[in-house]
Amino acid sequence: MVIQHDNPLLSHDEVGILLSAAGAAPSMHNTQPWRFEVTGSVIDVLLDEDRTLPAEDPSGRMTRIGLGAAAFNLRVAAATLGYETTLAIDPDPDRPDIAVRIFLGARHPSRNSPIGALYSQLHRRRTYRGPLVTTQIPATVLDQITAAARCEGGELRWLDAAARYKLGSTLQAADDLELHNEDRLTERSRWIGGDRAHEGVPSAALGPLPTQPAAVRDLSAGYDDPARDSSAFETDPLIAILTTGADDQVGWTRAGMALQHSLLTATSYDVAVSFLNQAIEYAVLRSQVHELVGHGAWPQLILRAGYPAGSAAETPRRSWHDTLDIWQ
Ligand SMILES: Cc1cc2nc3c(=O)[nH]c(=O)nc-3n(C[C@H](O)[C@H](O)[C@H](O)COP(=O)(O)O)c2cc1C
Repeated sequence: MVIQHDNPLLSHDEVGILLSAAGAAPSMHNTQPWRFEVTGSVIDVLLDEDRTLPAEDPSGRMTRIGLGAAAFNLRVAAATLGYETTLAIDPDPDRPDIAVRIFLGARHPSRNSPIGALYSQLHRRRTYRGPLVTTQIPATVLDQITAAARCEGGELRWLDAAARYKLGSTLQAADDLELHNEDRLTERSRWIGGDRAHEGVPSAALGPLPTQPAAVRDLSAGYDDPARDSSAFETDPLIAILTTGADDQVGWTRAGMALQHSLLTATSYDVAVSFLNQAIEYAVLRSQVHELVGHGAWPQLILRAGYPAGSAAETPRRSWHDTLDIWQ
């Protein structure tokens, strides 16, 4: 961390609140691929090149989605502190490492803002990889989760039974591919399993192994983790595909913001979500997912949603001090 105290607009506590919120965002394999620069009232969310996944995410799409999610969390925390915010994606052609620039505007400490109300969910939200109960999510709740994604330029498309059936065979094909890709498995072993203090997904957060084929992603695929239990899973969970209109860095960043707005909204209703992205990560299979959502919509993430039968273990985070590069 480099700190220069030249008349900083924000206090040390405020910077801590903002960056801790950003760092609580989800990211693929909990790589936390972000760094931050704070310049007066401007906060830049930057890509950390040492935290990318070249084998599993060669285009950088999933990494970008994580940066978008962190930027959304920053805006939520800023709203709680009373700041209006505006943002720019890829704001500086000379600094391609800056993914999102957030401008803090006027401060109204006592004004309630709709996204500020999500602050209480930031540190409650977790990816839940266990079985779901059969209780249906009310339509009004699903509508709010869907509307949250739309606010950020994303669209959540809930699959009907026929589409879920088709997706099932695509997921199965992806699971088979995963087991035979040494580069991906080697890369993953840096991040998944065991005990983890600051990054990655510890064994405790992997959830139980399904006792029969299930629509859930087993992140430990390829190696045995003796710490895991097994459990029966629901047979036909609710599944949504998050799409955006563009399939470039801007579209991926918007997907991350839409993801996080909908995840925090889901958390506020105790709806648990996990990811089935294996089918999106392989180009050949992504085109099958594309067919499910039609032309003009790019599939970015596949989400499984419902009420959890158990609890999700916490994944660790780095201290916010370790993510702040410059403060001036
Ligand atoms: C872009 C993206 C892709 C992800 N893909 C998967 C996935 O395919 N399978 C999975 O189990 N979790 C996936 N996750 C969830 C991360 O593993 C999780 O966010 C991270 O471990 C931090 O844990 P938390 O969400 O409980 O805070 C993904 C998250 C993001 C943001």
